[in-house]
Amino acid sequence: MKVEQGNEVKKKLLITGSTGFVAGHVIEQASENWSVHGVSRSIHTSSSGSAQNHVADLLEPDQVSRLIQEIRPDAVIHTAAMANIDQCQTDQVSAHAVNVGATSTIAELCKNMGIKLVYCSTDSIFDGEKGNYEETDTPHPVNFYAETKVEAEKIVLSASDRNVVARLSLVMGFPVSGKGNSFLNDMILKIGRNEPVNFPQNEIRTPIDVITLATALAELAGNIFHGIIHLAGNTRSDRYSMAQKIADILGLPPESRSLIRGTDSNSIPGRARRPNDASLNNSKARQLLRTPMLTLEEGLQQVIKAHKTN
Ligand SMILES: NC(=O)c1ccc[n+]([C@@H]2O[C@H](COP(=O)([O-])OP(=O)(O)OC[C@H]3O[C@@H](n4cnc5c(N)ncnc54)[C@H](OP(=O)(O)O)[C@@H]3O)[C@@H](O)[C@H]2O)c1
Repeated sequence: MKVEQGNEVKKKLLITGSTGFVAGHVIEQASENWSVHGVSRSIHTSSSGSAQNHVADLLEPDQVSRLIQEIRPDAVIHTAAMANIDQCQTDQVSAHAVNVGATSTIAELCKNMGIKLVYCSTDSIFDGEKGNYEETDTPHPVNFYAETKVEAEKIVLSASDRNVVARLSLVMGFPVSGKGNSFLNDMILKIGRNEPVNFPQNEIRTPIDVITLATALAELAGNIFHGIIHLAGNTRSDRYSMAQKIADILGLPPESRSLIRGTDSNSIPGRARRPNDASLNNSKARQLLRTPMLTLEEGLQQVIKAHKTN
């Protein structure tokens, strides 16, 4: 399963959801040490320059099986998901098929072929009543997206004791391909169009920058850790204060700052319920990983610097 490049022998890593926000950065961060393969339903050339790109629909077990048999990766990082919480609530059949069904297919294939699987879960699996959640706390989903993620976590952990469930906090950064689920990018685009942008004051999170996250996921793919780990930043903040801090760091003028509005995400009709305080305790990650977890400010500076040099 090793690939020789020059005199270097690299292990193979397969990343699902390669057109997505998180995966685009995992490809960038992992490419130095791994021979990286990405899979998605379409190819965006800008997102995956350093990976070998494959097209497959994860809802088709035969396509997934052929792909994994062909690549024979040493590890899989499974980021692909229906990650829009409101879309999951209204289209539960598709959400279950992608988030649970496809994960189950991948977990079964990895088990049979002895491949380590790192699964991207979420802080949203908690009900948000307590906050500062540790890996041993019991999940209690308040929306359908979170229900699918809890079900998928159980499948991944019971498939093999080499597998990892990485629970991600709110992720900050810029998508590699201009596509993907980035609140920071959406905020900057909306403010650029002079549109107001709402940030829930009721939602307390421990945001992690996407570069730290991607580096930690690649580390987990290659090390001996197995089980559940929380990947979160060192700063606990409500999302409105977070947006104000981002505006400070970006040096936004007062007229742009006035577009940032506080809201209560659970009082907006038609939206799926969100947990209030889903902050994650990252002590385990800080203890076990070489990748340092950063504060909100350090993480933002890191992603802004990388974005400017790209
Ligand atoms: N972003 C966050 O703040 C955050 C926080 C906590 C947890 N997470 C979790 O982290 C993971 C990555 O999130 P993200 O923000 O990177 O999401 P994203 O930008 O929406 O990317 C999701 C990817 O999944 C792919 N996908 C969906 N259905 C597929 C299918 N049937 N077959 C193949 N590919 C499929 C999409 O590819 P197409 O181009 O084919 O649509 C897309 O590339 C998700 O599991 C999410 O639940 C994210």
